[in-house]
Amino acid sequence: MEQQGMKEAAGRAAVDTLVQSGMKLGLGTGSTAIHAIRRVGELLAQGALSGISAFATSFQSEIECERLGIPFYPLNSRELSGCLDLTIDGADEVDPQNRLIKGGGGALLIEKITAYASAVYAITVDESKIVGSLGTGFPVPVEVIPAARVSAGKALEALGAAVTLREAVRKVGPVITEHGNLILDIRFTKPIDPSIMENEINHIPGVVENGLFTRKHPVVYIARSDGTIEVRGKK
Ligand code: 5RP
Repeated sequence: MEQQGMKEAAGRAAVDTLVQSGMKLGLGTGSTAIHAIRRVGELLAQGALSGISAFATSFQSEIECERLGIPFYPLNSRELSGCLDLTIDGADEVDPQNRLIKGGGGALLIEKITAYASAVYAITVDESKIVGSLGTGFPVPVEVIPAARVSAGKALEALGAAVTLREAVRKVGPVITEHGNLILDIRFTKPIDPSIMENEINHIPGVVENGLFTRKHPVVYIARSDGTIEVRGKK
């Protein structure tokens, strides 16, 4: 099975086994999470699901909800009141303890808030996202306020990281997040302890959040090229 097929299989499997009518549902961002959104839309259209109140973690996810007629609300709304039954999202890397790197799509801040607001947190990935350790392959995104671009960058270098300002595509200049901030992508040359590093990065003045997700333990749906789905972790 090709990578696109695996992404779709992971997203559909998570929806089919976890989503129930009446749920308050967090919908993630990216090319894997979008398949979960599409499956929710399909089940609603068939009448197999009803009463879903969704929260979309990005502009991309909102547009897909609009297109499919999935009712979505702000996380602070009366409908959701800041808590969700289940969130289904994607990830950039997953380690053997189900710790994650997220934020390849730049939505790490709202994705982390959503993860912690969810009773059940599900991650959907294809097998290429499974790694032995985090931080030396896919870069860890760090969202910083613009005034801290240089000072936070130096502090991240002092932690042993190579730092790159994320540049926009088809626009000159940096990526500006939904919250008006910048993203510094950092890559470590030596293995890190992700749990300690998540804290250390967030203690740097001007850092808003980083893409290491080590404390909210997800159930992970891994789609393999042989067509099977492995489910790791507990609901
Ligand atoms: C967005 C994310 C995505 O979930 C992550 O980048 C995975 O994306 P994809 O499924 O497209 O590989 O964290 O901020």
